[in-house]
Amino acid sequence: MTPRWFIAFLLGLVELVSTQDEGCAVGVIGESAVLPCTYDGTSKLLSSNITVQWRSGTEVMLKRMWRQGHEEMLNSSDSTRVRMPSLGPQTGDFSMTRSDIVPSDSKNYSLHISFDGEKTSSVLCTVCLRVGAHFSFPSIQRGQVNPEGKTQFACHSRGGYPQPTLHWLINSTEMPPTGSVRTYTQPLEDSELFNITSTLTVTISMGLPVMCAIENHILNETFSTTNWPEEEQVSPVVARASEAMWIFSTVLIVIVGLLVAAGIIFQVKWDHNRRRPHVHRDDSDSEDTDIITVDMKNLDSLTETDV
Ligand SMILES: *[C@@H]1O[C@H](CO)[C@@H](O)[C@H](O)[C@H]1NC(C)=O
Ligand SMILES: *[C@@H]1O[C@H](CO)[C@@H](O)[C@H](O)[C@H]1NC(C)=O
Ligand SMILES: *[C@@H]1O[C@H](CO)[C@@H](O)[C@H](O)[C@H]1NC(C)=O
Ligand SMILES: *[C@@H]1O[C@H](CO)[C@@H](O)[C@H](O)[C@H]1NC(C)=O
Ligand SMILES: *[C@@H]1O[C@H](CO)[C@@H](O)[C@H](O)[C@H]1NC(C)=O
Ligand SMILES: *[C@@H]1O[C@H](CO)[C@@H](O)[C@H](O)[C@H]1NC(C)=O
Repeated sequence: MTPRWFIAFLLGLVELVSTQDEGCAVGVIGESAVLPCTYDGTSKLLSSNITVQWRSGTEVMLKRMWRQGHEEMLNSSDSTRVRMPSLGPQTGDFSMTRSDIVPSDSKNYSLHISFDGEKTSSVLCTVCLRVGAHFSFPSIQRGQVNPEGKTQFACHSRGGYPQPTLHWLINSTEMPPTGSVRTYTQPLEDSELFNITSTLTVTISMGLPVMCAIENHILNETFSTTNWPEEEQVSPVVARASEAMWIFSTVLIVIVGLLVAAGIIFQVKWDHNRRRPHVHRDDSDSEDTDIITVDMKNLDSLTETDV
């Protein structure tokens, strides 16, 4: 159950961040990433025997061979998580798709190509891959004011990679005073992801919003949440008022119901006592008939007596 004092609005703010690794491919942990590589001299590719290799350092991840555009089946042991289109010489596209990305895939890859059995190969592309995982939208909790008049806020986000940058803003623009923020990252078991938790302890005037933002440099993603102070307890008061109204009207209905029931019982009894002598004395008592029509039982008994 969300505490009453906890009100948070998600803003989903995305900021422009220029990454230091300009031109790197970006992969999300558990998903696939494409390492792009194209060659624009396809006529040469189709008329030659070519061998291409995707390498990372000294490791050969994938090897393919085409004779005048026709793919040769190789006995090479490709890495399991890589794919490449088989129409490379026709399209010039030698991009490699790496699936099920893990943090250690974050490195440089290069495509080497050699023509007609040359011993030496030339590097066609070098691609760097950077790996990240999305953090959750941060949540903010606002604590009670402590005896020193300070309020503690806690900001939490989970399951991202790599370690993010976290910052707080008070009243949309102000940086928190130095020493008021403590931030911890917690590595998660069985994965290389992180949780991040930060506390802000400040003297803050009532009514000011507090924002916590989490920035993932690799994914170029900033998520922020703003905590708005509760507005003068308006909603609980409204809730209590409507509850009171509900109880009041229920009681009122019960009382009215009891009064009506008592009235009917009284009337029926009173009418019973009055009617018996009337039946014999005066059959054309219109006032009696009016009352009798209210109750069907009495009406029945009256007609019986009449017949
Ligand atoms: C970061 O994202 C913004 C929009 O979300 C985009 O315009 C910008 O080019 C991105 N920067 C990098 C380095 O990817
Ligand atoms: C390609 O390989 C085939 C068979 O190995 C050979 O006959 C052909 O001459 C080669 N083509 C070139 C351009 O080297
Ligand atoms: C693949 O390698 C096996 C031995 O590892 C060999 O017997 C087979 O002939 C090879 N096939 C080709 C097409 O090179
Ligand atoms: C990857 O390549 C870039 C240049 O493109 C280089 O600065 C960087 O050091 C390389 N990283 C590794 C791990 O080799
Ligand atoms: C909060 O910000 C608003 C406008 O940004 C400003 O007018 C106001 O004085 C600020 N309040 C405090 C307490 O700093
Ligand atoms: C990470 O955060 C989640 C909830 O956000 C929590 O359930 C989990 O225990 C946290 N793990 C660690 C190692 O702090």
